[in-house]
Amino acid sequence: TPVAAVIPAAGRGVRLGPGAPKALRALNGTPMLIHAVRALAASRHVSLVIVVAPPDGSAEVKSLLDAHALPGGTPGGGPASTDFVVVPGGDSRQESVRLGLAALPPQYGVVLVHDAARPLVPVDTVDAVIEAVRDGAPAVVPALPLADTVKEVEPAGEPGAPEPVVATPERARLRAVQTPQGFDRATLLRAHETVTDDVTDDAGMVEKLGLPVVTVPGHEEAFKVTRPLDLVLAEAVLARRRL
Ligand code: C5P
Repeated sequence: TPVAAVIPAAGRGVRLGPGAPKALRALNGTPMLIHAVRALAASRHVSLVIVVAPPDGSAEVKSLLDAHALPGGTPGGGPASTDFVVVPGGDSRQESVRLGLAALPPQYGVVLVHDAARPLVPVDTVDAVIEAVRDGAPAVVPALPLADTVKEVEPAGEPGAPEPVVATPERARLRAVQTPQGFDRATLLRAHETVTDDVTDDAGMVEKLGLPVVTVPGHEEAFKVTRPLDLVLAEAVLARRRL
């Protein structure tokens, strides 16, 4: 079964501070999105990458892919014969993924959804997700145990105000989930057609359909670049890889 990857990259990146849309900010001189696209295209199983660009940024993203020798829409045009397509995104991550799925050709039976904000995911993690879907799981998420204890709170009105703690879930049973999340095509399309509640990941929509979601081991380097410190960490990881 051919594998396609949808990369939502339409977020503004407000938590990262002022500047360009998050996916277009540079890590060691190369836009985060380009790192993310390369990370997925590095898998020999991934033959199509659909990039969901900022709504007014499709042309810029297309020329970035060209500039980094990742030509869009040309069969066999990319390295290891991966094709690239760019579509404009929406107001929410969910909407952006939905718009990416609308551009998915019918022959792709396995679909990955990968945050542009996780530019350093190792190819072994990508391949582990693909393998678990090919082995029959409808939805697969890379997951890691937590270092921090997590509290549920009653959210305060204003930022910084004290918040009453409501509960402490048992840490050993919690996992932080990453991307790429992998899906059987029909499952992901049905989830996006039928689930309208707000969710923060695609697997959450599959859970709402009552279908099983399983984990595979995640990787520390698949962390999400969200806050300024994450940029420092990402550049340190890149520097270490060059050794
Ligand atoms: O905001 P968050 O960190 O959860 O975003 C995760 C991913 O979803 C990022 O790669 C971001 O670019 C993408 N996104 C999107 N469209 C939006 C909001 C976020 O493609 N409207």
